Amino acid sequence: MQLLDGRYLAKKIKLEIKQQVKEFLEQGRREPSLAVIILGDNPASVTYVRNKMRSCEEVGFRSVDIHLPQDTTQDKVLEIIEELNNDQRIDGFIVQLPLPEHLDEQIIIEHIKPEKDVDGFHPENMGRTLLGLPAFNPATPKGIVEMLKRYDIKLEGKHIVIVGRSNIVGKPLAAMLVQRSINATITVCHSHTKDLASITRQGDILVAAVGKPFFISADMVKEGAVVVDVGINSIKDKTRKSGYRLVGDVDFEQVRKKASWISPVPGGVGQMTVAALLQNTLLAYKKVIYNG
Ligand code: GUN
Repeated sequence: MQLLDGRYLAKKIKLEIKQQVKEFLEQGRREPSLAVIILGDNPASVTYVRNKMRSCEEVGFRSVDIHLPQDTTQDKVLEIIEELNNDQRIDGFIVQLPLPEHLDEQIIIEHIKPEKDVDGFHPENMGRTLLGLPAFNPATPKGIVEMLKRYDIKLEGKHIVIVGRSNIVGKPLAAMLVQRSINATITVCHSHTKDLASITRQGDILVAAVGKPFFISADMVKEGAVVVDVGINSIKDKTRKSGYRLVGDVDFEQVRKKASWISPVPGGVGQMTVAALLQNTLLAYKKVIYNG
């Protein structure tokens, strides 16, 4: 078993970005900038946003943290998005999900200018991702594809089984992997899939994005499979000072005995997601996807 080390790769990608930022600054240009809107105090979201801000600092981006109260109105959120859409000093921005219940996620996402939608959640970027056109690809799938590429995992002719059909991970990952340039066969499973294990066992590459701790057991995994764990689940652990620890969707200790490659949690896909967001922000700054 070999480790798909997201922490190591993300560090490498951040150094590449940092070098590019340095060169832009030497040319007299301003630094790239990312704004993050977060509503309320969901502990997981607060941690993710803190990691994103810290990573911006590491690579030399300007970061703007817009922390709004839980009860902020939809109109107010749309107004702030409008300001960011028109702010020349902001290259890209995201609205951290999930949103408080009273807000309409789709309306909010569609209000973001596609040119600044570095999360790639706007239908225009999702559609372009499906078509294989230049687009901001959502950060988690982009990070996964980057991880597989950089570890030289062969995808041609492989059966890639994705468990989970979310708009953030499962759907866009399937869209990216189904492209002709990759030549893989993709299956997307979900909570209503019949005899799930018989399908996951066919996966040469198995991606778990269900949000349930230890959901993928060893009997669901093909011998020699590449296993990518997207889950970030907090479970109680009395042996830890904090009283909890992070685990993935995969029963790592059992599945590692069967897998040829496996990504750990923490230190796997989560780190790659942040790196991919920084890459998207740099593309927005360089106006690579949409020029004008
Ligand atoms: N919540 C969980 N993952 C993400 C992400 O990639 N972007 C945003 N905006 N919210 C998330």
